[in-house]
Amino acid sequence: MPVIGLGTWQLTKHTADTVLYAIELGYRLIDTSSDYRTQPGIGEAIKKSGIDREKLHITTKVEETDDAYKRMKSNLKELQLDYVDLMLIHRPPLFGAGEELWEGLIRAKEEGLVRDIGVSNYSISLIETLIYKSGEIPAVNQIEWSPFGHSRKMYDYCVEKGIVIQAYSPLTRTRRLNDITLKQIALKYGKSTAQIMIRWSMQYGTVPIPKANQKAHLEEDLRVFDFEINEEDMATLTALNEHYSSLALGRLQYLKAI
Ligand SMILES: NC(=O)c1ccc[n+]([C@@H]2O[C@H](COP(=O)([O-])OP(=O)(O)OC[C@H]3O[C@@H](n4cnc5c(N)ncnc54)[C@H](OP(=O)(O)O)[C@@H]3O)[C@@H](O)[C@H]2O)c1
Repeated sequence: MPVIGLGTWQLTKHTADTVLYAIELGYRLIDTSSDYRTQPGIGEAIKKSGIDREKLHITTKVEETDDAYKRMKSNLKELQLDYVDLMLIHRPPLFGAGEELWEGLIRAKEEGLVRDIGVSNYSISLIETLIYKSGEIPAVNQIEWSPFGHSRKMYDYCVEKGIVIQAYSPLTRTRRLNDITLKQIALKYGKSTAQIMIRWSMQYGTVPIPKANQKAHLEEDLRVFDFEINEEDMATLTALNEHYSSLALGRLQYLKAI
């Protein structure tokens, strides 16, 4: 899996052109979902780019109320693809761990419609339930993750199980970009606060998927491979943790059921 990706929630303006530009810049992982309404534009951009399909890593999702197998098929149709690299359960259903959805994804994987299957917004106990019931370990847990909201306990659990954490809203939807500590560290490295957040996520060992509509942002978010945050500054950034969530719900969802 590429070490950084492009988020596409709310990337509904000029989706195809923006994603095409992102692919040209070097983005190889693209995250979407049936409810983002960006799948048709992403499909168009992939076609236009002429890129070898094997070089891309496409993540999409099924909703908690879906028939997972059916949704898988319609996602592929919208994306104009034969397979996706990763399919996630977008969030746990109200009751249970989503066992039925998981069975649908397992079937899709067995039929070669998807390379890997995983979950999103899942707590440790919900992941444990899925594994216990099916014997299948999710490849990924896509969760909110930034210096202001993360969980060592979740990270250690995922490492132990071989689960990759995809870090969503890694820029806190811009809400914490002006934090004073973050700004001081950014100044020291001659980088933007967004670049520091992305680099922090990567160095922590997660795969950030920042979303950007603006070309300048798309470019900036990829310029994170020419510097390294030292150990002391990593610790300072990690200590900003307050289990903050930039989503309306206030606190990180995956911590609720731990
Ligand atoms: N699984 C889930 O439940 C879930 C939930 C939320 C998000 N996600 C995924 O994760 C992706 C990223 O999360 P997100 O979209 O919530 O938030 P985010 O990536 O933290 O923030 C996106 C915002 O940051 C701005 N931005 C991007 N680069 C910037 C830069 N260099 N400097 C300043 N601002 C910058 C963007 O502006 P412009 O667009 O104007 O460039 C946009 O307003 C989503 O798009 C989606 O694919 C998944």
